[in-house]
Amino acid sequence: MKEKRSQFGTKLGVIMVTAGSAVGLGNIWRFPYEVGANGGGAFVLLYLIFVFFVGLPVICGEFILGKRSRSGIRGAFEKLHKSRFWGSVGYISILAAVLIMGFYSVVASWTMEYIVQSVEGFSGLSSPEDFHNRFELLTATPVRPVVWTALFLILNYLILIRGVEKGIEKVSNLMMPLLFILLIAFGINSLLLPGAGEGLRFLFHPDFSKLTGEVVLRALGQAFFSLSLGMGCLVTYSSYFKPETPLMRTGISIAVLDTFVAVMAGVMIFPAVFTYGQEPAAGPRLVFEVLPMVFSNMPSGSIWSLVFFVLLFLAALTSIISVSEIIIAYLMDDFGMSRFKACTVHFVISLVFGVVCALSFSSLSDFKIFGFNVFDLFDYVSSNILMPLGGMLLSIFVGWVIKRSIVKEELLAGTSHSGVYRVLATVMAFCLRYVAPVAIAIVMLNCLKGI
Ligand code: PFF
Repeated sequence: MKEKRSQFGTKLGVIMVTAGSAVGLGNIWRFPYEVGANGGGAFVLLYLIFVFFVGLPVICGEFILGKRSRSGIRGAFEKLHKSRFWGSVGYISILAAVLIMGFYSVVASWTMEYIVQSVEGFSGLSSPEDFHNRFELLTATPVRPVVWTALFLILNYLILIRGVEKGIEKVSNLMMPLLFILLIAFGINSLLLPGAGEGLRFLFHPDFSKLTGEVVLRALGQAFFSLSLGMGCLVTYSSYFKPETPLMRTGISIAVLDTFVAVMAGVMIFPAVFTYGQEPAAGPRLVFEVLPMVFSNMPSGSIWSLVFFVLLFLAALTSIISVSEIIIAYLMDDFGMSRFKACTVHFVISLVFGVVCALSFSSLSDFKIFGFNVFDLFDYVSSNILMPLGGMLLSIFVGWVIKRSIVKEELLAGTSHSGVYRVLATVMAFCLRYVAPVAIAIVMLNCLKGI
């Protein structure tokens, strides 16, 4: 017999859990390195436009699909509209989820390394080269990254088998507020650094000469990655929503919270990058070399460092749980597996992908596809191709295939149906129908043209 579908407890719990999925390494690790590698302010501006005009409507679209179908991403389309094509769109999301599991757990394993490093202290390290060499030392050997990645995945597994409400909601409720407070404190600390002006200019002053088709695609990809969009994560979560959960309010809260955390991470990191003479375009290692340097220059730095990396680790955990949930819901819904069995199968698959990614900086560093190592390839393909593609198809489905009255009804569920909400629902439905699919198609085609 099928297990009864879980439900989230409270309204606040719903926001915390979905924000727990959105807020993660994407905001604090990926956002700064993409901003740094893609020219700064102009990228940030584009990113913000994508979050609110494409991301927010797609969030609502995912919510509508999940809440209405009460199904994970693979079955959701099919439940609302029987067709072979729509029945197979969900596989794009599942593929994206598997790829993300691989590289995300490796970055999470770096946060575990840095928790230990913080306890040991960063004594003896002072120049950017010292911090660079320390990071190299951690990633360029095969054993430690593999062990940390495996440990991270085991922990994820143990939380997942406890189920949606007991495991995920509790961790998120505690972690999110703490993370916000800490980010504000570190942001203020960075604003007092001598390079603050230069850092803020880099982050907020748009230099449009830096914009290329590739940069626009990366800004779109970052918006999707950061908001956990286009791969059915929010579809899966909203299948656990109660009927009265307000979709638009939840969506707006997530978009605002997530953007706030990303921008705060930028405020925290770029003043330090310029103060300590680091390279903004350093790529995935940026944050792991800059932040320890900031901490080592603060009084009681190792305690701050410890608290920060513990919170970053928890943020990664609440996000990876949501990626896992996509795969687990698929295994349970489509194969009738028990939760325990689905979690176990998922664990084995993600361990294989995680280990391959962990080794892509050491034993597999010479193995390149299209010039990317496996880690970068999984990151690029999932965020910049699969997630926008999934988001485009989803917005076409909700905007054009599902009845308009259902879309409106769901958008207004749990609200007072007042004038403001009605206008908002109309704007959201318009963006879902026209703005999101067209914008995503243009960005992706434009980039293909440049290849
Ligand atoms: N949004 C998460 C982050 O910013 O770290 C990553 C993520 C979670 C992506 C869940 C996709 C997803 F389905």
